[in-house]
Amino acid sequence: MSAPEHAIDDLVAAARDVHARAYAPYSGFHVAAAVLAGGRVFSGVNVENAAYPLAVCAERNAVAAAIAAGEQRIEAVAVVADGEDPTPPCGGCRQVLNEFGPDMLVVCEGASGRRAEWVLSAILPHAFGPGHLLE
Ligand code: THU
Repeated sequence: MSAPEHAIDDLVAAARDVHARAYAPYSGFHVAAAVLAGGRVFSGVNVENAAYPLAVCAERNAVAAAIAAGEQRIEAVAVVADGEDPTPPCGGCRQVLNEFGPDMLVVCEGASGRRAEWVLSAILPHAFGPGHLLE
């Protein structure tokens, strides 16, 4: 069953709420994400580091918060970043998200308010997942 429209609006709002708290002094690109899991919302922002490769994406920090709270099934993720146009999750984050919900809804909203939406499996086709290890 897919999440109702108001739940998706709330998810985007949760991401927008934390967007200003992104720690992105090196790229200057602030990203916020919120995941819907077990009826609860968990948010995260990108956290960069003076050792550049250690930056962690917003989506992964939101996933980590959900996992730490005991949720392992993600229904939807919202991403809000700098820029007028919606920013989709990077390839690495698509893979991390896939672990917890290959059919989750991915909703990205730009500053213009324009949204882009996909089912995760459509933007990560032929994904490698836990099942491949077990086969
Ligand atoms: N970033 C995210 O937080 N999520 C993505 O899906 C793409 C990129 C962050 C990482 C880095 O801090 C900044 O955006 C520029 O790449």
